[in-house]
Amino acid sequence: HKRLIIAIDGPSGAGKSTITKLLADRLGYIHIDTGAMFRTVALAVRRAGVSPDDQPALARICHECTISFERTNGCCQVLLNGEDVSRAIRTPEISLLTSAISAQKVVRDFLLELQRQMGSAGGVVLEGRDIGTVVFPDADVKFFLSASAEERGRRRYLELRARGENISLEETIAAVVQRDKQDEEREHAPLRRAADAIDIDSSGLSIEEVLERMTAVIEAGL
Ligand code: C5P
Repeated sequence: HKRLIIAIDGPSGAGKSTITKLLADRLGYIHIDTGAMFRTVALAVRRAGVSPDDQPALARICHECTISFERTNGCCQVLLNGEDVSRAIRTPEISLLTSAISAQKVVRDFLLELQRQMGSAGGVVLEGRDIGTVVFPDADVKFFLSASAEERGRRRYLELRARGENISLEETIAAVVQRDKQDEEREHAPLRRAADAIDIDSSGLSIEEVLERMTAVIEAGL
């Protein structure tokens, strides 16, 4: 079989990470969490203490940071200059900063290059906001995974609580809605469904049901 490039885009909390990992495992593909790459740049920006719209500083930070993934026993760690930052990039503060720096062209161009290098050989499932529209417009299969704002906020809330974050459900839903708005309204590579993407609304569907739908689409195309 040909080793495909599969794109999964959609707003935050739609279930992309869970689904992407499981789908990649099922197909024997690698998965690439492009959101984690943007988050890692945001963390570097936060640590450097620079403003998210200081273009020259962002360019310097991108130039100086090395982002890589380490795959150990099924779990995937994100490394910033060799340091495991998988946990540090998942705080609500970094989520919002990520949405701000991801609107900057210099950051997008830097990560675009890296994402294309990582994925172009195929046998890969990439999750993000602009995979089907910008990163791999010729991807073999494109999904747009969404869910209602309440459902997405609720999932994020459970995730954050499980991690020990002290945040309310209302705050989490508001943060999710704010981040989507920023992602949809930005000028460069906004969150948008590709014209040829297959829509899946995961509200009310189990993980297994979403996976079954995707697998059916992929098999029909092979
Ligand atoms: O998917 P995740 O919630 O980890 O993404 C964090 C943020 O990274 C998003 O809110 C978005 O601003 C940005 N992002 C992006 N393009 C991608 C993936 C993520 O702009 N392909």
